[in-house]
Amino acid sequence: MHKHCLVTGGSGFIGQHLLALLTRQGHSATLLMRQPQALPALRAQVEQLGGRGELLTAVAGDLARADLGLDAAAREQVRQAAVVFHLGAQFAWGLAAEQARQVNVEGALAVAELAAQQGSRLLMVGGFMLANHGHLQRIGIDLQRPERTDWDKVYQRTGAYEGSKLEAHFRVHACMAELQAALTVVHPATVCGHSRSGHILPAQPLAGLIGNLASGRLGAIPGSPAHWLPLVSVDFLAELIVTAAFDEQQVGQEILALDARTPNLLGMLQPLAQALGVRAPKHHVPIPVLRVLLKIPGLPRLLRTDAESLDFIQTARFDTAATEALAQRHGLTWPDMTEALRVTARYLMAVL
Ligand SMILES: NC(=O)c1ccc[n+]([C@@H]2O[C@H](COP(=O)([O-])OP(=O)(O)OC[C@H]3O[C@@H](n4cnc5c(N)ncnc54)[C@H](OP(=O)(O)O)[C@@H]3O)[C@@H](O)[C@H]2O)c1
Repeated sequence: MHKHCLVTGGSGFIGQHLLALLTRQGHSATLLMRQPQALPALRAQVEQLGGRGELLTAVAGDLARADLGLDAAAREQVRQAAVVFHLGAQFAWGLAAEQARQVNVEGALAVAELAAQQGSRLLMVGGFMLANHGHLQRIGIDLQRPERTDWDKVYQRTGAYEGSKLEAHFRVHACMAELQAALTVVHPATVCGHSRSGHILPAQPLAGLIGNLASGRLGAIPGSPAHWLPLVSVDFLAELIVTAAFDEQQVGQEILALDARTPNLLGMLQPLAQALGVRAPKHHVPIPVLRVLLKIPGLPRLLRTDAESLDFIQTARFDTAATEALAQRHGLTWPDMTEALRVTARYLMAVL
């Protein structure tokens, strides 16, 4: 049955692919947009990605404003949503803590309260580091009593973007539990382009890494041969999000959208380099050395790399059994990640 949905972050990279899939399946969506006048362009983009633009409407809103900046007419318009998809976030390195907290934490809480009040199911997009419990404990998160966490310290350790995503996760969980409302969380790994078209937005972290490789700025491989950057292609991620949102069994669940077959960093850089027609670096540089180097003024800009991105490169492995079971039950097949990397690099070469 076709459902009506509310989507935040619909104009973003993951949002565009989510809207394409939702509308292709016949669902309609109201988008909370800071710039609703951009709806016609977004409709055209969603159609380019295979969706149906006419099933999209927009209301003016802002995650950083009180009551999400929604007026009474907009509140009425979003009231019918069966599912609220919360993807909107200030996604960048070097954010001020206050700005990140306002949009990513307070904004997420306001979306959660709205969903709970109107009886919509909430599908929130988190991040895969939330499944790395060793890392969470090392950076000072109290997993038994998250409300006891000193979040300012966490933000200092991780950077404001990641800190705010972690804080939002625990606070939204607590809020939805208190309100006894339905929550499902999908935690994406770093997102790769579409597995067949390679479509990706240039501001995405993976696009930045590919750009560095293409321009010869990536002289060495960060970490050791055991290090990897877990990935998921944007089309498979959209499938997991939509599947989880409409599957009653997924209420109260957290789904890790991470392809456990992602190769190590060398195995990831080789197909990218091949597609770009450049050489892949061969030597490794330890992460602690990179962290020290990136403290040198001007170096992050020169290397177009930020220390905040280094936490995502790691040796931890993740338990994806629940995701595999969900994918299998709904007949979803993981695309070939090496091929997705190749087409993403080719797509970027063509558009940049
Ligand atoms: N991409 C990844 O590798 C990755 C990995 C793990 C988790 N995630 C999470 O996935 C979600 C979507 O990521 P993405 O890559 O699609 O991000 P993106 O391309 O940067 O899109 C961000 C979206 O958030 C909206 N937004 C930002 N500030 C807002 C505000 N104050 N009020 C309303 N909307 C606002 C933007 O709308 P405007 O058009 O107004 O700017 C845009 O639609 C985020 O929660 C992110 O943390 C992403």
